[in-house]
Amino acid sequence: MNDLSTNIDAYLETQSKLDLLRFITCGSVDDGKSTLIGRMLYEAQLIFEDQVAALKNESRHHGTQGGEIDFALLVDGLAAEREQGITIDVAYRFFATDHRKFIVADTPGHEQYTRNMATGASTADVAVILVDAQSGVLTQTKRHSFICSLLGIRHVALAVNKMDLVDFEPDIYRKIVADYQAFARKLAFKDVTAIPVSALDGDNVVTRSARTPWYSGPTLIGFLETVNAHHTMREQGFRMPVQWVNRPDRTFRGFSGTIVSGQVGLGDEVRILPSGEVARVADIVLYTNRLKTAVTDQAVTLCLESEVDCSRGDLIVNSNDPAEVADQFEVSLVWMDQEPGHHGRAYWLKTGTTRVNATITNLKYKYNINTLEHLSTHNLALNDIGEATLSLDRGIAFEPYAKNRALGSFVLIDRFSNATVAAGMINFALRRAKNIHRQKLAINKAAREALSGHKARVLWFTGLSGAGKSSIADALEQRLHERGVRTYILDGDNVRHGLNQDLGFSDADRIENIRRVAEVAKLMVDAGIVVLTAFISPFRAERDMARRLMNEGEFVEIFVDTPLEEAERRDTKGLYAKARRGELPNFTGVGSSYEAPQQPEIHLRAGEQSIESCVQEILDYLN
Ligand code: ADX
Repeated sequence: MNDLSTNIDAYLETQSKLDLLRFITCGSVDDGKSTLIGRMLYEAQLIFEDQVAALKNESRHHGTQGGEIDFALLVDGLAAEREQGITIDVAYRFFATDHRKFIVADTPGHEQYTRNMATGASTADVAVILVDAQSGVLTQTKRHSFICSLLGIRHVALAVNKMDLVDFEPDIYRKIVADYQAFARKLAFKDVTAIPVSALDGDNVVTRSARTPWYSGPTLIGFLETVNAHHTMREQGFRMPVQWVNRPDRTFRGFSGTIVSGQVGLGDEVRILPSGEVARVADIVLYTNRLKTAVTDQAVTLCLESEVDCSRGDLIVNSNDPAEVADQFEVSLVWMDQEPGHHGRAYWLKTGTTRVNATITNLKYKYNINTLEHLSTHNLALNDIGEATLSLDRGIAFEPYAKNRALGSFVLIDRFSNATVAAGMINFALRRAKNIHRQKLAINKAAREALSGHKARVLWFTGLSGAGKSSIADALEQRLHERGVRTYILDGDNVRHGLNQDLGFSDADRIENIRRVAEVAKLMVDAGIVVLTAFISPFRAERDMARRLMNEGEFVEIFVDTPLEEAERRDTKGLYAKARRGELPNFTGVGSSYEAPQQPEIHLRAGEQSIESCVQEILDYLN
């Protein structure tokens, strides 16, 4: 045992030389994860004495283990503290043995904590996967294993726990190990080491158990002390994402960040991505020290010899071995939001300090977690894991996740709620559109607008079915036409007879409907026309997407605000009646939602106003 109190200096000295292993523990409810972590911490004897004393007391009051110490109380006690806060985060615990230092990421096992689990796994080298010997391999076990594999963990300890409750029966253990191996073969693990344990009694956790004479492998701690999981980030090319530009005065300009791979030395030639500008390193500053070289995991400030354009979110790399820059990717996604992810929808993509717009251009498939089969899908629901393609509105510097976790991982963020909706890993860049460049044409929009004698616009009508969108657009177009304005109406019912006749009314189809219409409207605006679109367009995300396709001021959102009761009373097409009879399952306002605009350019109270006054209000706005 290392005695903290008697020789703290010598202790810290030895400890600082030990290497560090990061691991994650995964288990379902009641698998005994807390007990196991508590046992490891306790046996590593780094629990402070007073905590142990308190624990003995607590165990007497609340413990489920007679007078014995209940290790679960220790860990769960800390967890409860943590959960006082708003975010349920990953708890990282630190402990050490004479051979290694450890950081263990403890994450809740429930499916709703997939996000925490993915976070913990993203920095771990090894996973300890717990299985209850009484219940065997569960769906949750498979789910945890798959996420670990996806997040780059290559070494696994399968801790078959509660062996004491099955009388240390070797056949039960072997059956569970065989079941698990059959599943794990489909994953990317390099090795799976199975260990029969009793976290409660301590069998094979730190000391070998006399009760498993049929087992000759390592103890759990023995495995963790010796597993070779060294990552080689230092040997890779130099990469440093710029966290901030440090410019205290006119004389100093440095780029600060943490080196995520490789090393950099004075005089090295580096490249700034995505711009591609090149410069030499003039100075490497760490706090007040100057370094000759800096390596992976160090947080430094680099000064360059020449002036370059470099800002937060850029990536500094060696010039002879740069990272790639791309704007289309094949990615894996772990969906974490109640609101499903849809093909065609746009999100913020955040990686490191960069934030860009990203649209899901294809949902290739999602996984059946039990069999790892590929299932075709139009959306990713909460906790689904799938493969997709993303299109970004500008190129970013990246590396595949398998090569560099820091540069290959990202999160998707909802543009309206700001919630993190998915965690993602870049598999590779798509180079599909590489040889397609925009053709430069002599006559442009400005020339066409000049010929028309007016600006091009999109007047985007949105509202419930029967709200009056088409009628108002029709009346407005007549007035504009009289004035010599070149117009065109794209109307939901009409477009669905041609261009969009393959689409129905599922969320995915409505998203695609609006995406196509927005693209057509954009072409018409480019042609110099005033386009009137009359679609329910029920979702904010897609109306926002249409807005972003146009230039500033070109997109005029017109909310035809007729209350549901009024639209239903009018029921011009008899569709509300049908929907209420259950014959139209996805009808807007009945079986499908309508997200009202928050800040439309024009808000028409079309339940009370006449069509004429609505038209006048729009004309006033346009004037
Ligand atoms: S949108 O939601 O994708 O924008 P769009 O405006 O193209 O819808 O089409 C709506 C029109 O389709 C409605 O006015 C109605 O006439 C008809 N329709 C048929 N089924 C539905 C449905 N389930 N929900 C809404 N509209 C429907």
